[in-house]
Amino acid sequence: MKYYIFFVLLLVGGYKLGKLIIEGKTKQVFDLPDIAGHCLLLNKDRITAGDGVKAHDMEGKAAISNQTNAKVFEILKSAGIKTAFVEMVSPTAFVSKKCDMVPIEWVTRRLATGSFLKRNPEVPEGYRFTPPKQETFFKDDANHDPQWSEEQIISAKFNVNGLLIGQDEVDYMRKCTILVFEILEKAWALRDCALIDMKIEFGVDTEGNILLADVIDSDSWRLWPSGDKRLMVDKQVYRNLTNVTAADLDTVKRNFGWVKDQLDYLKPTIHHKVVVFMGSPADQEHCQKIAKAARDIGLNVDLRVTSAHKATEETLHIMRQYEDTHGALVFIAVAGRSNGLGPVLSGNTSYPVINCPPPSDKLVQVLKYFKLLLFM
Ligand SMILES: Nc1ncnc2c1ncn2[C@@H]1O[C@H](COP(=O)(O)OP(=O)(O)O)[C@@H](O)[C@H]1O
Ligand SMILES: [Mg+2]
Repeated sequence: MKYYIFFVLLLVGGYKLGKLIIEGKTKQVFDLPDIAGHCLLLNKDRITAGDGVKAHDMEGKAAISNQTNAKVFEILKSAGIKTAFVEMVSPTAFVSKKCDMVPIEWVTRRLATGSFLKRNPEVPEGYRFTPPKQETFFKDDANHDPQWSEEQIISAKFNVNGLLIGQDEVDYMRKCTILVFEILEKAWALRDCALIDMKIEFGVDTEGNILLADVIDSDSWRLWPSGDKRLMVDKQVYRNLTNVTAADLDTVKRNFGWVKDQLDYLKPTIHHKVVVFMGSPADQEHCQKIAKAARDIGLNVDLRVTSAHKATEETLHIMRQYEDTHGALVFIAVAGRSNGLGPVLSGNTSYPVINCPPPSDKLVQVLKYFKLLLFM
């Protein structure tokens, strides 16, 4: 008798899959044995609501979710957010840094709606939160993801990939959550869509970094075109269905597809520039530090040498040229001694001017003197 041993090598997007690490309602997470510290997330053609109580197959949803997520994470990465997302590797899969997940859903709301109204019945729908409202929920389907306070999160002493989640870690995730919301809110505003609320999750990678992880897709937010609730294009349409027909599922899928396509237009089209004016080439070193900091967060930077008191007309001419060709501008003025550059620029432009004179020994002495006065 002959025995044949078949090895089934599962490949997705050219990647050899290792063991299934975890399977949730809408995704499977696979180990990638050939790339240390990474995993592959495979989306399912499945839509669920109410902690999985309501669930339907939806052909094509995995591909739409996968592309939506990839486009959103590219926007966030280009804005400097530290994320686990690496790249899309097949129509329905992407590679991510392998994380242990912080079991908290971080929710941000601009307008009151949905579950917030159930928990705060006195608040009218549409109440506007300024700054956006933050809420945290412990991920626990069996208990319907209970709302948790900051104190509960810290007291739980979560150890995630060796990192103890304490006050500093919670502070970081809070700040990052608001930033993510504000970036996407501004991006969606370019298409006249109001981002009403959204949820994100964080993970800790194998090196102990807290990263924005999981996915952001049409399941993660409420999105109202023209700020009109009746035009909603997010998963709420599915949540609201009592009898789910094939036509209903088609509508939901069409909405998700529309959102995925709109994301291509969310990149600002106006040219931006940070122009660092320096009064003298002697300030070059200080200006390079400013330029590096700006470039590190993805900004375009020019350095120009011009003296406001020796060559005022030339300074203003350079400024006018930038005003003519760029839609979004910030001028940074670096000049010692007379320190007239900043005021000359700001007195002649409607764009923001940041006055940033180079540090000098004298300045340090003055600051020390101030400190002395303050703490006497
Ligand atoms: N980068 C990652 N590394 C490891 N696990 C992840 C990563 N991103 C997401 N996950 C986890 O993958 C699981 C599957 O996702 P999903 O189907 O959305 O699950 P759930 O039903 O719990 O929401 C979730 O537990 C999620 O936290
Ligand atoms: Mg999920």
